Amino acid sequence: LMEASRQAGMAEVATSVLHNVGNVLNSVNVSATIVADQLKKSRIASLVKAVALLQEHATDLGGFLTGDLKGKQLPGYLGEVAEYLAAERGAQLKELDLLRKNIEHIKEIVAMQQSYAKVSGVSEKVKIAELIEDALRMNTAALARHELQLFREYDPHLPEISVDKHKVLQILVNLIRNAKYACDESGRKDKRLTVRVTNGDDRVRIAVIDNGVGIPAENLARIFNHGFTTRKDGHGFGLHSGALGARELGGALRVHSDGPGRGATFTLELPLRRS
Ligand SMILES: Nc1ncnc2c1ncn2[C@@H]1O[C@H](COP(=O)(O)OP(=O)(O)OP(=O)(O)O)[C@@H](O)[C@H]1O
Ligand SMILES: [Mg+2]
Repeated sequence: LMEASRQAGMAEVATSVLHNVGNVLNSVNVSATIVADQLKKSRIASLVKAVALLQEHATDLGGFLTGDLKGKQLPGYLGEVAEYLAAERGAQLKELDLLRKNIEHIKEIVAMQQSYAKVSGVSEKVKIAELIEDALRMNTAALARHELQLFREYDPHLPEISVDKHKVLQILVNLIRNAKYACDESGRKDKRLTVRVTNGDDRVRIAVIDNGVGIPAENLARIFNHGFTTRKDGHGFGLHSGALGARELGGALRVHSDGPGRGATFTLELPLRRS
């Protein structure tokens, strides 16, 4: 079961990463389509025609530009085309810049995933805030798409902790995703996700707080059970493996909710030092 839940945790991170990459790829696709459409409709063809007209009258350009009806309109027309092409170019550069940033973002997500996959099973000194930021980053696209407002309340004096960061990341990624689902399901407009980190008694506590659907009292007791889920496409593995993982790290995972419609708080508690 231990191995199964470790794998479930890894699958959770992989799912998050892919989901996030998928979201960003959507934007990449949109940008590429916009640029392609603009290029197809580009007024570069008007410029080609104007140049052809000038070449046709190459032997008597002066006469053409001053005497011919079309010729007289040509400078004004060229000016218009030039302005149009400049605007087109500006819009395309902007779109390509967005595209480049999104590709960069995908690169970062993949690199982060790989760096975590490498260190699995090994404890190392980590800055807890950085670890949380990584977990949030793995969900940025999804959080933005569902219009969740993110609040960070980090104790400014957080010590480094020695921990298997892959394990912590798995737990946090699931908590963040669960919070996102809970907010989505609530149907409310002001969806809020707060991450609060406090520190005391040789322990650091990471609370993931949402204002989503909340949890009825009768579910609180079994929420960490393997297979408990209320989601249509849920597995009920996330919290179970999170609670096991927390225990393996010498800590604990706790839940609090004032009931349906009143949000939920999941707190991951970790010891600063392993005894
Ligand atoms: N923040 C939350 N607010 C309200 N209910 C929650 C929250 N987090 C978890 N739950 C409840 O706990 C259940 C179990 O969560 P868990 O993460 O273990 O599994 P899951 O999200 O349903 O599926 P998966 O295994 O894919 O993560 C959820 O289906 C949901 O009913
Ligand atoms: Mg889950």
